[in-house]
Amino acid sequence: MLKLGVNIDHVATIREARYRGRSTGEPDPIEAALQCEAAGAHGITAHLREDRRHIQDRDIWRLREAIKTRLNFEMANSPEIVEIALKLKPHIVCLVPERREEVTTEGGLDVASHEQAVRSTCRRMNDAGIEVSLFIAPDPRQIEAAARTGSQFIELHTGAFAEEFHDAGKRATELARLVDGAQQAHSLGMKVNAGHGLNYENLKTLYAVPHMIELNIGHSIVSRAVTTGITAAVMEMLRLMDGYGK
Ligand code: PXP
Repeated sequence: MLKLGVNIDHVATIREARYRGRSTGEPDPIEAALQCEAAGAHGITAHLREDRRHIQDRDIWRLREAIKTRLNFEMANSPEIVEIALKLKPHIVCLVPERREEVTTEGGLDVASHEQAVRSTCRRMNDAGIEVSLFIAPDPRQIEAAARTGSQFIELHTGAFAEEFHDAGKRATELARLVDGAQQAHSLGMKVNAGHGLNYENLKTLYAVPHMIELNIGHSIVSRAVTTGITAAVMEMLRLMDGYGK
């Protein structure tokens, strides 16, 4: 069965838009994570960025305590965040690019140019009992490099596929790259996840990609929650206002 990891970063993005610099505020990404789990999600993904633009340090520790499924900790391969991950001990870390020089043309982590550094972090994580995934484009050179680092997983970057989804020719090209990438990773002994830009429209097309274990999806789920939840939220507010002047 294909597993779903829900990326809750954008719940924190909404909170930070109003409450940046404060220690509380809504919506609470941990509350959202618990509701995702209750709805059947197999894991929660959160990215503690070096610039702390959405998820904050306190969130990640509370998530580690509260969630009952698996925490996939997305992170840059930077000394500060590596130390946090080693203390946090999530189930898995996913190394993602944050700085421009770490990014391939397709947007994934440039493992081929940073192989030594990635291998060293993989080893430190594995020694601490933490699995590693590398967020990479479906590029044969990057997949080969990923296999040499000792990481257990790759997460195939589906961003180009999602971007080109409405152009049948380009969609077919991007889908074929994902199929080939998944096959290559599998044949090199790595497990395959995928994510970025997946939504309620493009998801089923991805069925063509073999060997996938988990999809990490954030923006479309948080967006859908706003539109499907806003009716109940307005009705609740109207009920509260209804007492005025009575
Ligand atoms: N996977 C990785 C590695 C990510 O960094 C993100 C967030 O950009 C996602 C998956 C989820 O992407 P989206 O929010 O587009 O669903």
